[in-house]
Amino acid sequence: MDLRQPNNVAHDTTSMELIERDHATVAATIYRYSSIAFQRGEGAYLYDFEGRKYLDFVAGIATMNVGHCHPAVVEAICDQARTLIHGACHVGYMEPYVELLEALKAIAPGHLQDGKGILVNSGSEAVETGIKLARYVTNRPMIVAFTDSFHGRAMGALALTASSTLYRQRLTGLLTGVYHTPYPYCYRCPLMHESPETCGLACLNLVEKALQTVVPPEDLAGIIVEPIAGEGGYIVPPDGFLQGLREICDRHGALLIADEVQTGLGRTGKMFAMEYWGVVPDVICLAKALGGGLPLGAMLARADLVDAWPPAAQGTTFGGNPIACRAGLASLRVIQEEGLLAHAVEVGDTIQGRFRRAREELPIIGDVRGKGLLVAAELINADGSPAGEIIKAVIADCSNPTEIGTSGIVLTKCGAGALRFAPPLIITQEQARKGVDTILEVLGRHQW
Ligand SMILES: Cc1ncc(COP(=O)(O)O)c(C=O)c1O
Repeated sequence: MDLRQPNNVAHDTTSMELIERDHATVAATIYRYSSIAFQRGEGAYLYDFEGRKYLDFVAGIATMNVGHCHPAVVEAICDQARTLIHGACHVGYMEPYVELLEALKAIAPGHLQDGKGILVNSGSEAVETGIKLARYVTNRPMIVAFTDSFHGRAMGALALTASSTLYRQRLTGLLTGVYHTPYPYCYRCPLMHESPETCGLACLNLVEKALQTVVPPEDLAGIIVEPIAGEGGYIVPPDGFLQGLREICDRHGALLIADEVQTGLGRTGKMFAMEYWGVVPDVICLAKALGGGLPLGAMLARADLVDAWPPAAQGTTFGGNPIACRAGLASLRVIQEEGLLAHAVEVGDTIQGRFRRAREELPIIGDVRGKGLLVAAELINADGSPAGEIIKAVIADCSNPTEIGTSGIVLTKCGAGALRFAPPLIITQEQARKGVDTILEVLGRHQW
């Protein structure tokens, strides 16, 4: 291969050739949900090397909130690339870095409007920055986290992640001081209660119990929680759970850390999912949609906490890269100017409504849940167990345009057996309806 002409391969590549080259070169641990090779993207669609069109119900894992190659984002990237590509935040000051944090403060809930932050490169790093801050400023060693939660795969973040043992195999000996208690996954109650209405917030009581038995409150630096468990299955907690965590943190002088990496910046129909429960955390971790498709993460926290962290205790070479910041600013502006929060709720309601109605004829659909355009339909086997194998077949069939006669659909799962719907927020009602019709048609073929 002639590396002086990096584009000479792409022109006549076929999807199959690229996949073969990938298999010969890329680590097999990089798991793919589909066998689609993405050549380009536009709006709510992706295209492969043969020009086949796919409706994108994944958005690069809840990242491309304003769709693929939005002109405003492309323009911001090109403009910044001509101006300053990298300077490093430790070496000098950069306007896009400051501007993005100012923009985040302006939309942040409550006292975080006066907060301060740090920009990093990924969700894992944003989470690790949050727990490092919590441990430093409280001078306490312990963190409470939840099962079914996903906070990233870097070794610190992985110590908090508890959505699958697969990620932890042979890695015992992660960050110490982390204690997990059950996330309120009410459809499959970890405590076998009948319903969230009658359980008395039993999962919250288990946090209290932990503070009486294993986690000395005076050692508790913070509680980290996803307002809606993302990778764990788009699990929406019952009312009162997040408010209860806030109260527990206040009572014990610990910090509430909201991991809004997947839920943040409009995905759920609010800028921050915590707003649904009126809870203001001490620390918010962001990434995914933050960079408009470029790698970018952020930790925004109470100013008094951030001010207590001494200079140079935390940092990164690339975090807050000016191009990523400009892309993120452009994306945020589109979300606000195009009214995408309200739109996400409307389209999300359409998707949920259609799946709820379909459940009457398709008992394979066990549960439908979510907020805004963060929606899951949990598929079940006849005995009620998660339909992990069926889901693979459904995703494969949906991704096959010749099989389904129109454009294919890019789909993934979350949790043990939930179809995950996280399309770009710009998806139209009509596109969403067509996508849902196709998925339901495919589900009908897999109904037991
Ligand atoms: C809630 C949450 N936190 C953290 C992460 C980790 O982000 P990254 O993959 O950018 O490290 C993810 C990724 O899916 C996530 O969903």
